[in-house]
Formats: sequence, C-alpha cells, structure tokens
Amino acid sequence: MMKKLIVENLTKRFGDLVAVDHVSFDIMEGEFFSLLGPSGCGKTTTLRCIAGLETPDEGRIIIKDRDVTKLLPQERGISLVFQEFAVFPHMTVYDNLAFGLKVRKTPKEEIKKKVLEIAETLNLKDSLRKVAGRLGLSEKQRIAIGRSIIVEPEILLLDEPLTLVDAKVKEAMRRELRRLQKELRITILYVTHDQLEAMMMSDRIAVMNAGKILQIGTPSEIYESPKNVFIARFIGSPTINLLSSKLTIENDKFSILIKDKEAKIQVERKLYDDILGKHVGRELLIGIRPEEVEIAKQHMQGYNIIGKIEFVEVMGEKMEIYVKMNDEYIRALTPLRTDLHEGDNVYVRIPLDKIFLFDAETEQRIL
Ligand SMILES: Nc1ncnc2c1ncn2[C@@H]1O[C@H](COP(=O)(O)OP(=O)(O)O)[C@@H](O)[C@H]1O
Ligand SMILES: [Mg+2]
Repeated sequence: MMKKLIVENLTKRFGDLVAVDHVSFDIMEGEFFSLLGPSGCGKTTTLRCIAGLETPDEGRIIIKDRDVTKLLPQERGISLVFQEFAVFPHMTVYDNLAFGLKVRKTPKEEIKKKVLEIAETLNLKDSLRKVAGRLGLSEKQRIAIGRSIIVEPEILLLDEPLTLVDAKVKEAMRRELRRLQKELRITILYVTHDQLEAMMMSDRIAVMNAGKILQIGTPSEIYESPKNVFIARFIGSPTINLLSSKLTIENDKFSILIKDKEAKIQVERKLYDDILGKHVGRELLIGIRPEEVEIAKQHMQGYNIIGKIEFVEVMGEKMEIYVKMNDEYIRALTPLRTDLHEGDNVYVRIPLDKIFLFDAETEQRIL
C-alpha cells in the first residue's frame, strides 16, 4: 500500500514554546488516521503545518512522494475542514458542491458532471436545488464532505469537526463519516481530543501530549497495550484504575503488594524473571481497567482484596461500583447485578493476565 502522507521530525515553536516537538508519522492511502490528545497539545498546529498555513521550524512533509514543505497551501493537494462541517447556508447544494471547482476555473460542463457524480454518491441528488442552510445536519455533513473531496485532494484534514454538534447527532455523524470515508476511499487525518471518537472511527491513532507523539497504533493496540500511564488514563471510559504497589520477592515468587501489604498478587517467577527482576523493591502502579475487576460477596479463591462498596452508579445496562479499600478506591464496571449495594463488604479479584504494570517514577509500562 502507498504512503499518502509522511510527516518527518516536524517541529514548530512559538517563542519559547515548542508547540510541535519532532513529530513523525505516516498515513497510508485510504486510511483514517487520528491525532488524539488533550487541548493545547499541538494537534491544530501540526495540521496547519501540513496544510501550509504555518511554517515549520524543522522537518519535512511529503504528500504522495512530493516534498511539499516549502509549497503554498493550494499547491499541496489537501483539503482542510475546521470545526463544524461548514456549508454556505444561502447557496444551493449544487453551488456548495461546485464552489471549489469554480474557484479553480474548471469548465462549466466538467463542473456539472462532477457535481452530479458526487451528489449521486452522497445521496444528495434530490436536494441539489435546495438551499443548504435549511437542510438537516446529516445532509450538511455530506455537503461539506462533498465540497472538500470534489476537488480530489490527496488527503482530507479535519480539525475537531464534530465539536459543536450535540451528543445525539454526533454518533450518527461519526458513523456516516466513517462509511463515506471507506466507500470513497478518502485518506483522512482527523484531529480530536475525544478518545471515544478516535477509538470508534480510526484505523490508527497517534496519541499526542505536550507537542510529542507518545504512541501510534490501532485502537485496540492502544487500548490493550498503552505505553505509559498517560495513555492508559487517556484512553478508556470509565478511567483505568491505578493502584500504588511495590514489587517484592518471597519464597522465590514475585509478589506485587498493593499499598500496605494487605493485598497481594503473586506472580510465577520464571514467567517474568527478566522483566520484573529489574524492578524488585521499586514503587509500581498496577493498571486495571474497571471492566476487568471482579467482585464477590463471599470470599473465593483469588478474591484477596477486601473492601467496602462506597457508591454504585447505574449506567444503562451496566453499573459502576466504587469499592473503598483503605484510602484508595477501585472502580469496577459490571453488567447489572442486584446483589451489590452501597455499604456491602466485598472481595475483589484483579486478574493477573489483565493487569498493566507501570514504573511509578518513569510512568513507563513494564508489563
Ligand atoms: N499562533 C500562535 N502563537 C503562539 N502560541 C500558539 C499559537 N498557536 C498555538 N499556540 C500554542 O501552541 C500550543 C498548541 O496549540 P494547538 O496546536 O492549537 O493545540 P490543540 O489543537 O492540540 O489544542 C498551545 O500551547 C497554544 O497556546
Ligand atoms: Mg486545536
């Protein structure tokens, strides 16, 4: 498969602030690639550098084998959509779709042919004479996408396009965007701070923080093997549990002692000797996703953390349970259960094969 975009060592400073710090990634043809990170981490600046609206201090941008780093925005073969899917509300759907081609002085007959083609694909044929501003959000979204892709960009850049759309409509629009992207094989670079949005739509995600890319992978790679504490916390809802603990060796077995030694997880030594050996005596953080935490009313094999249910929150088909153990909480997400109530004493199991271990100091994942 062909690489549509290569970003190499991209760096952009504003005075002393390094907004984009040696960022590198590739996007394949037809890929939906997201830049995901908290507000202010440098996503928009990265996009603006790719679009040619900012001049990078270092690095190269290659679009379809062409080094475009020094080219003008209109010479790069990209389309950029900011914020809400913008349409010209007073123009007809036809004129909205034709706009980019008119600006490029495309012959009238050719414009007509292309507009009809794209209207067919986007299911807008019956709306061509309608005024865009009066249409629903889903149609506006299709118009905006049509407008951006009718000029046949190599890559479509979208900067938080669904931020202003309300939650109900958002889900439908995400699905629609993803469907169109697949059907038309559009290469998309999508920017968002919303992890759920990135997880739902992307082929691959680059997680960014403070100007740097921390990890690139498919949604499941990032969910199942986060490289550090930041990523583990940022991805997943409800948020991952992180429990302070310490690694010791007893009777030739590794033990991970949670907090004040009241609970421990024993690990077969030979399994993890090379990985864990270096961390004996060190402070660790155990990461466990709430959906992997198991709760029992009676003591059972493996349920060796004792706690008390402090709070139960029902969320549709599931419930989130806050178990207090000493001064720490552990959150569990389970299908609805009628046997668990606030105030109950419970036993908690943290399955060994589902935990992440992080070095508490470096916050890097070790297992
Ligand atoms: N034109 C500018 N001048 C000075 N600082 C800027 C400028 N544009 C962005 N920044 C700063 O660069 C950092 C990254 O901003 P931005 O790329 O907009 O982040 P994001 O899109 O991830 O929210 C922020 O600290 C922001 O304040
Ligand atoms: Mg931004």
